[in-house]
Amino acid sequence: MPQQVRGVIARAKGAPTELVTINIPDPGPGEAVVKISACGVCHTDLHYREGGIGDDFPYLLGHEAAGVVEAVGDGVRDLAPGDYVILNWRAVCGTCRACRRGRPWYCFATFNAEQKMTLEDGTELSPALGIGAFADKTLVHAGQCTKVDPAARPAAAGLLGCGVMAGLGAAINTGNVGRGDTVAVIGCGGVGSAAIAGARLAGASKIVAIDIDDRKLSKAKELGATDVINSSTGDPVEQLQALTGGFGADVAIEAVGRPETYRQAFYGRDLAGTVVLVGVPTPEMKLELPLLDVFGRGGALKSSWYGDCLPDRDFPMLIDLYLQGRLPLDAFVSEEIGIDGIEAAFDKMHRGDVLRSVVVW
Ligand SMILES: NC(=O)c1ccc[n+]([C@@H]2O[C@H](COP(=O)([O-])OP(=O)(O)OC[C@H]3O[C@@H](n4cnc5c(N)ncnc54)[C@H](O)[C@@H]3O)[C@@H](O)[C@H]2O)c1
Ligand SMILES: [Zn+2]
Ligand SMILES: [Zn+2]
Repeated sequence: MPQQVRGVIARAKGAPTELVTINIPDPGPGEAVVKISACGVCHTDLHYREGGIGDDFPYLLGHEAAGVVEAVGDGVRDLAPGDYVILNWRAVCGTCRACRRGRPWYCFATFNAEQKMTLEDGTELSPALGIGAFADKTLVHAGQCTKVDPAARPAAAGLLGCGVMAGLGAAINTGNVGRGDTVAVIGCGGVGSAAIAGARLAGASKIVAIDIDDRKLSKAKELGATDVINSSTGDPVEQLQALTGGFGADVAIEAVGRPETYRQAFYGRDLAGTVVLVGVPTPEMKLELPLLDVFGRGGALKSSWYGDCLPDRDFPMLIDLYLQGRLPLDAFVSEEIGIDGIEAAFDKMHRGDVLRSVVVW
């Protein structure tokens, strides 16, 4: 039976979000309906509301979620009602040119549900990142559901569904951080802090956290930073070099998404080092660099989408590490809020008061 539940939508560019009734169809072939247990508030939700991602209003917001499968459609294997899952936005297709070449984390044709959720008047909703989980229930493609150990608390587990995975993967997958590496992380919000935790997990021997907010830097220390630099007080590249024998970091991770911080990452890495851009720039931003420096310094300049993760490979493994006490996911949950607290959570995010506010049911 199609059902009606509550969901948080952005109706028009810049307008405050609204809690409304939405219609959820029964799952069709390959689809699943998931009852949401927790969903983190990510910067990307705010980008959607502000019209920075697209113009397909109204959006059903929310995409960092854990929940329990309620129903599955025809042809769904390996997923059943009652399964505890983290929702992902990389349900790989298996047949695009990236998948065929054995690089499914670059999949160019990821799956989403084909049917639409709607407003009461029938207006079709665009779910954020194909998920839409600021809702009692949501409709997704079955491949967007990754089963994990139900012992993991939903508020912490759901965060792997986006920002925390993006940061962990920027270090572990894209940056390929290894034992003994020196790592710099510029911007220590939810994403950058996760990159710090990822660098620690991968065995980095020195992890330098760089931010303009001392609150973020003290949190970064809790998560594994060995040194911190407040870049509002001087040139962070010089300070980073001073901390690394004059050389810079093997891997420099940019988690802000601005040209000036990208430049810091570019010049703050050692010769032949790796720059990873995980922060998302806006369309008007431009980067200018001497081409001779790009050539002469060698190494690799990479971008990281969703931490180059494969949800079915990475989520269960990371949840196991969390349950063993080796990955501090709880440290990212700054507060638990109700579904009516999202606008206030956006304000706290803007002021830098939180790593993550998480809606819990
Ligand atoms: N690539 C991906 O797959 C992916 C996924 C999720 C989010 N993101 C992006 O990652 C970025 C960070 O997200 P977040 O949730 O951590 O945001 P956030 O707002 O929580 O954190 C940003 C941090 O950067 C710091 N900062 C701001 N200006 C700075 C500067 N000039 N120098 C140093 N630090 C500075 C802030 O103090 C804050 O701690 C955003 O651009 C977001 O859109 C990317
Ligand atoms: Zn593919
Ligand atoms: Zn996100």
